[in-house]
Amino acid sequence: MQPALTIIKDEHRALAAVLRGLQYLVQQVRNSQKAPDFALMKSMLAYIEAFPDKLHHPKEDQYLYRILRERTGEVTQTLNLLEEEHRKETEWLNTLRTTLEAYERQASAFEPFSDAVEFYVAAHFSHMNKEEDVIMPVAEKALTEADWNEIATAFRSNQDPLVGTGTQREFRDLFRRIVNLMPAPMGLGPEQS
Ligand SMILES: [Fe+2]
Ligand SMILES: [Fe+2]
Repeated sequence: MQPALTIIKDEHRALAAVLRGLQYLVQQVRNSQKAPDFALMKSMLAYIEAFPDKLHHPKEDQYLYRILRERTGEVTQTLNLLEEEHRKETEWLNTLRTTLEAYERQASAFEPFSDAVEFYVAAHFSHMNKEEDVIMPVAEKALTEADWNEIATAFRSNQDPLVGTGTQREFRDLFRRIVNLMPAPMGLGPEQS
C-alpha cells in the first residue's frame, strides 16, 4: 500500500479508538450509573479538535481530494459529499461540546449529549468508510508516484500523536487512558460480560 494511505488509515484508526472510547464512556454511564469522567471526555474532544479537525481533514481536502479531482472525475459526487462533511465538522463538534457542558452542569441533560455522541460517531464511521472503500481504491489507480509523494510529505509533516512518535505528551497519555479503559479485544482493560 502507498505510505500516504497507510498514514491516513492509521489516523482513521486513532480517531476510531477515541470515538469508541467516548461511546463506551456514555454506555457505562447509562448502564451502571457510573460517575461520568468529564475530564476524560473533554480530553477526547480536545484531541479531535487538535488533530483530525485541524490537520487530518484539511490535508485530505488540500492534497488527496484536490489531486484526485485533477486526475479523474470518477468519484466527484463522493468527494463533494466528503468535503461537505468536513465543512460541517466544526458545527458537529460544537454540538458535542455544548451538550457535554450542559450535561456537566445538570445530570438531567444526559440524553441530548448521548444522542449527540451517537450521531457524531455514526457520521464519522460513515465518513471514514467512504474514504477507505470508495476514494482510496480509485486513488490507487489514478494517482502517480509524484502525487503520492506529495500527499505523503504533507501527511508526514504533522503526524497524529496517537499514531506516530509525536511529542505531545498530553495526547499520548490520553491514548493510554483510552486503551486501558476499553474492554478486550478493543483495548487492554478487563473483559466485560
Ligand atoms: Fe475526512
Ligand atoms: Fe479521513
